[in-house]
Amino acid sequence: MAVETTADNLNAQVVAVFPDKVRIVVDKLEDFKIAEESLRVGSYVRIADNENAILIAIIENFQIVALDDGTRNHLIEAFPLGVLRDGKFERGGDSLAIPPKSVEPATIEDIRRIYSDSVTEAENFCFSSLASNPDVPVPVNGNKFFNKHIAIVGSTGSGKSHTLATTIQRAVAEKAGDFTLNNSHVIVFDIHSEYRSAFPSANFIDVSNLTLPYWMLNSEELEEFFLDTEANDHNQRNVFKEAIIQDRKDKFKGPEADRERIHLDSPLVFDIQTVLDTAKRKNEEMIDTGETYASGAKKGQPKTTQGSLFGKLTNFVNRLESKVNDRRLGFFLGERSKTITFEETLETLLSYSAANKSNVTVIDLSGVPFEVLSITVSLISRLIFEYGYIYKRLRCAKDPTEKINNDVPILLVYEEAHKYVPNSGLSKYRSSKTSIERIAKEGRKYGVTLLLSSQRPSEISETIFSQCNNFIAMRLTNPVDQGYVKKLLPDSLGTLIDKMTSFRQGEALLVGESIVLPSIVQIDQCDPAPSSNDIPYWELWKEKWKDMDIAEIKAEWYR
Ligand SMILES: Nc1ncnc2c1ncn2[C@@H]1O[C@H](COP(=O)(O)OP(=O)(O)OP(=O)(O)O)[C@@H](O)[C@H]1O
Ligand SMILES: [Mg+2]
Repeated sequence: MAVETTADNLNAQVVAVFPDKVRIVVDKLEDFKIAEESLRVGSYVRIADNENAILIAIIENFQIVALDDGTRNHLIEAFPLGVLRDGKFERGGDSLAIPPKSVEPATIEDIRRIYSDSVTEAENFCFSSLASNPDVPVPVNGNKFFNKHIAIVGSTGSGKSHTLATTIQRAVAEKAGDFTLNNSHVIVFDIHSEYRSAFPSANFIDVSNLTLPYWMLNSEELEEFFLDTEANDHNQRNVFKEAIIQDRKDKFKGPEADRERIHLDSPLVFDIQTVLDTAKRKNEEMIDTGETYASGAKKGQPKTTQGSLFGKLTNFVNRLESKVNDRRLGFFLGERSKTITFEETLETLLSYSAANKSNVTVIDLSGVPFEVLSITVSLISRLIFEYGYIYKRLRCAKDPTEKINNDVPILLVYEEAHKYVPNSGLSKYRSSKTSIERIAKEGRKYGVTLLLSSQRPSEISETIFSQCNNFIAMRLTNPVDQGYVKKLLPDSLGTLIDKMTSFRQGEALLVGESIVLPSIVQIDQCDPAPSSNDIPYWELWKEKWKDMDIAEIKAEWYR
């Protein structure tokens, strides 16, 4: 739908309008500006029609065209962002009546108003400003931002960790009244020990003070963790299952009817040592046949025969034994895990214990051995999801007219999300993937939102990524990742998206349901910073040789 304009005495005219492009010819560029500010790629223009609508478009490229008569004019191509009508801004460029009447550079005031009018004060959540003009704050709708899942993507060093810190610091600081702690709840899975410094008052959990009860694992997680699932061995599975249920029943103190209902998924204590002892016993079991030896050295002694599982559980016993004895798994299988209660576990994870109320829980996973990482993340994520589920049920039971499902909604933050929810079917990721995918699909209803940060978006489970509604796309250089992000981004973004390759640190394309229009922004600096800053190599290298205590490093290594 190309349209030629009729006006011919104007310095600038629109010569073509497409759904994703507006072409403008300018005779004298020196006159096409406002307040002495020269135009550049990324500046805005306003195009008015006869019906009081104003199309706002962002300049994408600029060419000089030599004309036959020896003069030259200037061709500007711009991407339509949306239309201002009666002071209200709507996305998309297709409601402009054609032909357009006039075109001029948009004032900063126009742009500022679009952003500031886009959200009410109560919903305003602001953590960035326009990259092309730091004086224009770019707010998002805070309800829409946290209500749907969020993705931060970008190559290493593009600024993801700092962005994460900025958004959470702001969320924790804003208050609708006069009190010390607001009602924000954020749980950060911190894989590189980066966030303690950014959240000094957070409830900080690492392997030294983390206690996770293995007995809260569900049946799938239990099997994934304790059994050799590849071997598909029915004997080990049956012994394992029966021993757990039996021990739970033995320990259970409630009514008989409830006792009968105990199963593998019941979040009730059992002793893993008892399970191991049972497996050992069955593996060595000799059964009395009731006969005695009639002659020989054993004459008169009872005859025995090997039990049905004799020697068949050796692998299972060895596997279980090595786990139970693994000191590194103490936070999970040790004595504390057997005595910690359900309430304590949830209180710690949600930072709800009387002694330690906090908006942010930082779970430092750097000391968690790789083979239990998936199960750790899975268990914590699932507990939080189930909390949301049960809490909603409780609220609705108390008041059937209740409209807000969860008045204590939670944000779960996964750094390096491709490590827990990869686009791969490998069984070692199965449990974390299952729990997080469930939150991606259903979490919204129960007040549990995901924030995923990743340098390799193409390696994240598509199920999860495609459920994200708000994207902060930082510098992204890998073409495969770029293509993947492009495919998933909701708006038709023209060439805005191609700028991703050349973003500075902290610069991002902000797009999604929570923002009035896709915008290239500079994320505000966080304070304090996470410990992920660039290392000043060159300056450090030029300093005097630094001595290092290798013994101290060893001590930490072996701790
Ligand atoms: N908004 C910002 N403004 C200015 N500088 C920033 C901003 N965000 C990040 N930086 C700088 O960029 C560097 C890298 O930032 P950051 O650690 O957040 O990157 P990252 O994307 O998390 O990298 P990685 O993927 O390796 O974890 C830091 O030195 C930081 O100071
Ligand atoms: Mg980072």
